[in-house]
Amino acid sequence: MAIGPYPATRFRRTKQGDALRRLVLETSLGVDDLIWPVFLRDGTDDETPVPSMPGVSRLTVDRVVSAARDAADLGIPAICLFPYIDTSFKTELCEEAWNPDNLSNRATRAIKDAVPEIAVMTDVALDPYNINGHDGIVRDGRIVNDESVEALVRMAVAQADAGADILGPSDMMDGRIGAMRAALEDAGHTDTCILSYAAKYASAFYGPFRDAVGASGLLVGDKKTYQMDPGNGDEALRLVQRDLSEGADMVMVKPGIAYLDICRRVKDRFGAPTFAYQVSGEYAMIKAAAQNGWIDGDRVMMESLAAFKRAGCDGILTYFAMDAARALS
Ligand code: PBG
Repeated sequence: MAIGPYPATRFRRTKQGDALRRLVLETSLGVDDLIWPVFLRDGTDDETPVPSMPGVSRLTVDRVVSAARDAADLGIPAICLFPYIDTSFKTELCEEAWNPDNLSNRATRAIKDAVPEIAVMTDVALDPYNINGHDGIVRDGRIVNDESVEALVRMAVAQADAGADILGPSDMMDGRIGAMRAALEDAGHTDTCILSYAAKYASAFYGPFRDAVGASGLLVGDKKTYQMDPGNGDEALRLVQRDLSEGADMVMVKPGIAYLDICRRVKDRFGAPTFAYQVSGEYAMIKAAAQNGWIDGDRVMMESLAAFKRAGCDGILTYFAMDAARALS
């Protein structure tokens, strides 16, 4: 990379006005890059605000259908569903997770019926259904891998049956992508995409999400025996390689802003469709500072989303999706 000496090179030449700045802009965010995560609850024509996520509510199925309509009208390509499950449905074996008529599957069907053009992504993990709050089945205080994978496979097939376009396994059990892919092929769901949460860290940034899905009070211990240590980077590449080889179509890094180095390494190494999840705690921090008047919330939102594009991401799961789409239109 040759750079002439001053004054042959003046970096300020291309910064003089909006036209020149737009011409030399290297990456930019578009509405096509956005996946909107939403929370579901039971009932009709109602919603419950999530206190730790200002502007975010749990929506009843009819309201999530209208939300999906609005999102599609703004050009957002995908919506991602997370159910808030009443404690009475939570068990040690998480059977509600593969009930064909559970909240998530009912919402998927309703959205695909009314707004077929938006892609529906679902969450494959047991935590909303687990009396222990863990993503896998707990036996004698341990999260058992292979039995959890069997449950996750049932859950994945039920979600594909309901019409989900993209399955998002967020559980971090070993072998789940291969097992799900085989079961989907067997069930005739040859076109269901898997967006694997491949490099998912054991992060304190998930706090508000656990409130939103009602898992905070229940979680016994932590998720460090399956989610990644924040100090690790090479391991993320091995996980991504593993999940791609088992049949993932797209991969995710999570959380987002604190892990942009991982996004860049994953994109450079594999060239696969790469996504980042700007998680609940990241959203909450920006919202809280903005509410205090300490930062310009709209500008920080757009700047944080642009950073994912610069880091090589093809798209971002973000609670800001609707606000960002409006700002872009
Ligand atoms: C759990 C799951 C989590 C998130 C998505 N799926 C939390 C966790 O692993 O405890 C976090 C999303 C967010 O914080 O916005 N399966």
